[in-house]
Amino acid sequence: MIATYQAQCQQRVDTALASLFAAPHSELQRLYHAMCYSVTNGGKRVRPLLVYAACEALGGQPEQADGAACAVELIHAYSLVHDDLPAMDDDDLRRGQPTTHKAFDEALAILAGDALQSLAFEVLADPVRNPHDAELRLTMITSLAHAAGPAGMVGGQAIDLGSVGHKLDQAALELMHRHKTGALIEASVRLGALASARADDRELQALHTYARAIGLAFQVQDDILDVESDTTTLGKTQGKDQAHDKPTYPALLGLDAAKAYALELRDQALHALRPFDHAAEPLRELARYIVERQH
Ligand code: IPE
Ligand code: IPE
Ligand code: MG
Ligand code: MG
Ligand code: MG
Repeated sequence: MIATYQAQCQQRVDTALASLFAAPHSELQRLYHAMCYSVTNGGKRVRPLLVYAACEALGGQPEQADGAACAVELIHAYSLVHDDLPAMDDDDLRRGQPTTHKAFDEALAILAGDALQSLAFEVLADPVRNPHDAELRLTMITSLAHAAGPAGMVGGQAIDLGSVGHKLDQAALELMHRHKTGALIEASVRLGALASARADDRELQALHTYARAIGLAFQVQDDILDVESDTTTLGKTQGKDQAHDKPTYPALLGLDAAKAYALELRDQALHALRPFDHAAEPLRELARYIVERQH
């Protein structure tokens, strides 16, 4: 079921994303090519899926959520391009292909990341791509900016880089993961709910509890896969966390306890969805998928 849902949503968001990469001048072709390369190279599209699923859980239609789905994936793609740079994780492989700075060059990878970030907010502000009234668009822009910026993903990446070689306790590790990965996942669910244009505060709060749990679970599973998967399956070099002495859940708790924790977080997420009817089934499936996925 999740596979069919995933394929449908992937197609929707990929169509919307593809329309963003036509270079307005021939001089900009290389930049646009690098942006397109960074986005359309086979990501799982988990964040857009969460946008669509949250919108659907509240009775919204997918076309209401296309702009938000694009925007969160653009931010995600930018975060990966920069995360892979030599100054950060120094990775050569992403989604089974050379990372953007390897396929192009470092300077262009930095600029492509910058450009993808700007484009995300341009899409949210655009009443054609994101067909909502100005107030709702502004609320979405504010939510995504907060999640992507220093109080969210960028802050988490700063903690990550600053903690290499240090021993973090579980509270510090959780804080790092909630920022670097959880914040954007939380924003994806929130933007999807907002896109339905019928979310009440109680529903937003329940969805926030759900999103907090899966946001952390997502990075716990990412840490687990870095230990026990392989480079071909992952499409990124296995074992890099240990090689770089990164603080991770398996390193702190051991592999079995890290897996048990991921399942506990999934259950917390499912519990938060109890007030919702069958329309929240894709969100439930996604909570299961996030801790069962193999790449
Ligand atoms: C990888 O994210 C980076 C993390 C935040 C853990 P994904 O596992 O969603 O990567 P893609 O988009 O599917 O390649
Ligand atoms: C990345 O975390 C989180 C981001 C904000 C990009 P990781 O560094 O663990 O992601 P991967 O393993 O390189 O995909
Ligand atoms: Mg990293
Ligand atoms: Mg990395
Ligand atoms: Mg990782």
